[in-house]
Order: sequence, then C-alpha cells, then structure tokens
Amino acid sequence: MNPSSIKTEKSCVTIQPANNVVGSIRIPGDKSISHRYAMLSGLAQGTTKLSNFSTGADCASTLGCMVALGCTIRRNNGDIEIDGRAGDFAAPKSSLDCGNSGSTMRMLAGILAGQPFTSEMIGDASLSRRPMRRIIEPLIKMGAKIESRDGCAPLRVTGAKLNALSYHMPVPSAQVKSAVLFAGLLASGETWVEEPVKTRDHTEVALKAFGVDVVREKTRAGVRGGQKLRAIEAVVPGDISSAAFFLCAAALFPESNLVIDSLLLNPTRAVLLDVLIGMGARIPVISIEEQHGELVGSVNVQPGTLKGARIRGAQAAALIDELPVLAAIAPYTRDGVEIRDAKELRVKESDRIAAVAENLRRMGARVEEFEDGLRVPGQQQLHAADIDSKEDHRIAMAFAVAALRARGETRIFGADAARISYPEFFHVLQQITE
Ligand code: S3P
Repeated sequence: MNPSSIKTEKSCVTIQPANNVVGSIRIPGDKSISHRYAMLSGLAQGTTKLSNFSTGADCASTLGCMVALGCTIRRNNGDIEIDGRAGDFAAPKSSLDCGNSGSTMRMLAGILAGQPFTSEMIGDASLSRRPMRRIIEPLIKMGAKIESRDGCAPLRVTGAKLNALSYHMPVPSAQVKSAVLFAGLLASGETWVEEPVKTRDHTEVALKAFGVDVVREKTRAGVRGGQKLRAIEAVVPGDISSAAFFLCAAALFPESNLVIDSLLLNPTRAVLLDVLIGMGARIPVISIEEQHGELVGSVNVQPGTLKGARIRGAQAAALIDELPVLAAIAPYTRDGVEIRDAKELRVKESDRIAAVAENLRRMGARVEEFEDGLRVPGQQQLHAADIDSKEDHRIAMAFAVAALRARGETRIFGADAARISYPEFFHVLQQITE
C-alpha cells in the first residue's frame, strides 16, 4: 500500500496509478435494501433492528423522512432500530427532504399516496430535474392527488383511500414498481405491476420478509391491500453496486486478489459478476447463504485477460448502476465495451452517458456516444486528467477506478459526491491498492 497515492483536498481527490488490488473487505449495506427496510419498518408493527445499514447520504434522507413521519429511530453507525407505526404516520410539519435520492422520493410517494394528509417532498437541484411522471401517473390512477412542477419535484401528495391498480410500467424501473406495490398495500383490492423487463426484486423479497403475501411471476408482481407487516431483525447485505468499483478495479491488474465478504448476490443485482466472468475474470463464490430471502455470499476476484462486452436489453436494465464503471474500464479491455438500450442513464443523478463520454475523452480515450449508450474501443492507454464528477457519486467512483491504470496523476473534482452511496470509498480504495 502506498498511503500517499491518494490525496484528499476539499472535494478534489488525487489518484495515482496502481499495480494491483489486494485485500479482504466488507462493504456497507446495500442502498436499495436499506431504503426498503427503513420504509417498511415504518409500515410494520414492532421494532425493526437492522445492522450494516447503508452509510450513504441517500439512505440517511430516507431515515430523515421516516422521522418526519413520526417514526422513532435510534442509530449507532450501521446499527439502527426503527419503532414501526403500523402505517399510522403523523402528518409531517415541514417538507420531506429527499436530498439527492430518487429512491426516497419515488418509493415514499407510494406510501404517502395512501395517507390521510397532504405532504410535500423536495430534493436537491439534481433530484428536482429528474422525471417523476412515472410515479405520479400510476398513483393518481389509484386515487391520490399529486401536484408537481411540470412532472418534477417538489411533489405535493394528497393521500386518499386508494383503489387497486393493474399497471403495465412503460419504463423498466424498480423504483416505480416499488411505489405502486407500496401504494397497493394501502389500497383496497389486488394491485399488480407488470414490467417490460425484470428489474431488481428487493421490494418483493422485503415485503415477504415483513410478512406480506406477495405473488411473484416472471415479470409481474402483485399484493393484496390491507395486509399487516411485522418488524424484522436483519443484517443488510453488502452493496454490490458499491463493490462494483472494486470488482472492476481488481479485474484491471493481473496480480490482483480481492475477497469481498457478506456481499449481496441477488441474481437481479449480481449481473456484473456474470459480465466480468464473460470478459475473462475469475470470480469464484466462496460461500453463499440466504438471509431474509436475499442471497448473500463471499467472492474472490482473480483477474484474467479482459476481453470485452456487449450489453443490451434486459442486461442493460439489470446493470444500470454498474454501467458507468464498466464503461470507464472499457479502454483497458482487449475488445472494448458497447452499451445500448440504456437511455435511462441520461436521467440518473447526472446524464451518465454524457458524463462518462466527457470524462473518458478528457483522459484521451476515443468514445462513440449514442442516445441510448456508448461504444468504447479497447486497447487504449489513458492519461491522467481533471475529472468532473458532475456531483454524481457513481461518476466520481468510476473515474477513480479508471485513473488506477492511467499514466500520471488524475484529479477527481466533486469526489465528495461518493458520500451519497459510499462515504468510505476513497479510504477503502487507498487500503486495497498497491
Ligand atoms: C433503484 C433502482 C434503480 C437504480 C437506483 C436504485 C432501486 O433506479 O438506478 O440506484 O433501489 O430500486 P430506477 O428504478 O429508476 O431504474
């Protein structure tokens, strides 16, 4: 380890080239699961006890909203206790601040839609630009009233006695699916959501863990309204979208040997492992078990020649949060990486297609940009550059990984954005790079 290889200055982090990635690590709890467990514990009866809860600012936004809705929460780092209100929330005294978190705003909207009060959700500048019609439309169909600023936040939600809905989602989005299923829990009758391609299924898995009878078919899920939720005690599995940065970093160096313990291995989230294995990396799974319906295990990353990958269709949807880092390491592969059918990347915390293309070009790479993706040729040597994270956590971390094999010292501006999902990222990166 070379502790001076990463220097932190305000929101600029400097990264020097590395030779390999070695170590054994455990990642803080998965962001998607942490959000869901926090919201469902408010709907449940009893005290939910969680450990390894996400340390990111996004999940802190969800906890803040739950407190504003009257939940009592005791937190000691990753250990959290939430006293449920069996769905009997208090009307918030001020706006619910969702910060940078699309998951908080969209999923919580499903719960607020069924409350006997009006509430307002606000977000930061990035969240206030993101599309919300995708949740507004189905929730209005169920009976809620939602006012917005031209389809964007702030959202003013006036809850109602909801009617069940059979909804065919026009975009593949687990957040939309979750909002409708949460509202379905509060509606009379059976609510169904049909998705164009299968998205992460943590809501269905978590609902079952909290005692809800959920019907799950291939691309369809349904709940009956009026069911009671029971508090749970759970360890949140390590976030695989955060681990993705280290998996890709390790895959870049022939001498790497990285073990990641207690990692979420849910098949709807672990597609990056299949892609990296398909590209030539060896990633044996050392252990695997089920916890509250989620697969959790330890993996060992041992690199091989990184060939290339073509990502499209359902695979693009399943890999949506991992695509920036996959594109960022693409120049170092033999055959390059092509990503299509990923137009959703344009409406994330930043326009991630544009942000990846711009920063790769700053590092000297050739990149072709499409409306729905990117093509990055392989066998390119990158040079150091000043990277602009666009205040997007995944862009900051993706380019810290690309910088590990670039010539010279790369500066990541807006590196502080990593706090959104993984505040410890740069520290851990320093520990495992040599
Ligand atoms: C998430 C779903 C995805 C993902 C986000 C988390 C979730 O968003 O990008 O980081 O926890 O359901 P979409 O539902 O908008 O695709």
